[in-house]
Amino acid sequence: MKPHVFVDRPLAPEVEQSLAAHCTLDIWTDGDTIPRDELHRRLSNAEGFLTAGRRIDAALLEAAPKLRAVSTISVGYNHFDIDAMKRFGVIGTHTPYVLDETVADLTFALMLGAARRVAELDHYVREGKWKRGDGEQLFGVDVHHAVLGIIGMGRIGEAVAKRARFGFDMTVQYYNRSRKPDAEQRYEATYAELDELLATSDFVVMLAPLTEETKDMIGREQFAKMKASAIYINVSRGATVDEDALIDALENGVIRGAGLDVYKQEPIDGSHPLLRFPNVLALPHIGSATTKTRIDMAKAAANNLIAALNGETPPYLVPEFRS
Ligand code: DGY
Repeated sequence: MKPHVFVDRPLAPEVEQSLAAHCTLDIWTDGDTIPRDELHRRLSNAEGFLTAGRRIDAALLEAAPKLRAVSTISVGYNHFDIDAMKRFGVIGTHTPYVLDETVADLTFALMLGAARRVAELDHYVREGKWKRGDGEQLFGVDVHHAVLGIIGMGRIGEAVAKRARFGFDMTVQYYNRSRKPDAEQRYEATYAELDELLATSDFVVMLAPLTEETKDMIGREQFAKMKASAIYINVSRGATVDEDALIDALENGVIRGAGLDVYKQEPIDGSHPLLRFPNVLALPHIGSATTKTRIDMAKAAANNLIAALNGETPPYLVPEFRS
């Protein structure tokens, strides 16, 4: 008998077909996020769950006694309660690699957009405020030849470093749990301790995954160490930064601006204080959101789930579940 799988969103037809060849499928097609009670009901007979970012905790696992594997369409898996999953004998998979270049592009979009005030000045034109030539009030700062500080030199960090070094002649420095001699050589990047990186970078880019160690990693103390001209970019997870500290830093001119794709609470409320600042470029968590990359991610997630339910080691088993 084919294993039963619940999917909490519609997928590209070819991905649904490939899953349907191996599993019986129940797909939530409602558009809105599935309510918790309904999710628990749908999971009561599922052996596999394919999602993107849904919190997997003890309450969900209790409601899903047959569940064997959860496959997320994301590289980040901070929404997995790993201890609870292990207790319930459920493994987790994710989708690294396929999104690296796409997220690096978005990182650069935020850097360029924040530095050259792209969204702010788009509004300026649309609102009919462009009356004369381009006065100083429209000036921004250069990205080319600036110093880039990358926090978290994983694969996405390296894709950002490549663009920075070879496309924009930037000086690249990075902070990471471990040194990356190959990346240092490839991108002429230098390793810096966090305080040094914060004090000397024109752009501080957060790419480290959210873990107990990186939670609130950037707070008041860290903003105070940055240059007053620095731009802070977050493409990782909102909880890596203390948002109140970021608001204070923006309010008091401690840093120049920010480019954000992620927030503590998503979707961020339209009245959130972070959105009052014209020098904050805010995007709705679209790091990997191109059609091709999202299809590739869904394919990878489907392959992970099929392998897991066949009793094979999935291609991208989350490291914590590797024996
Ligand atoms: C991920 O895959 O974790 C990204 O945040 C998606 O944009």
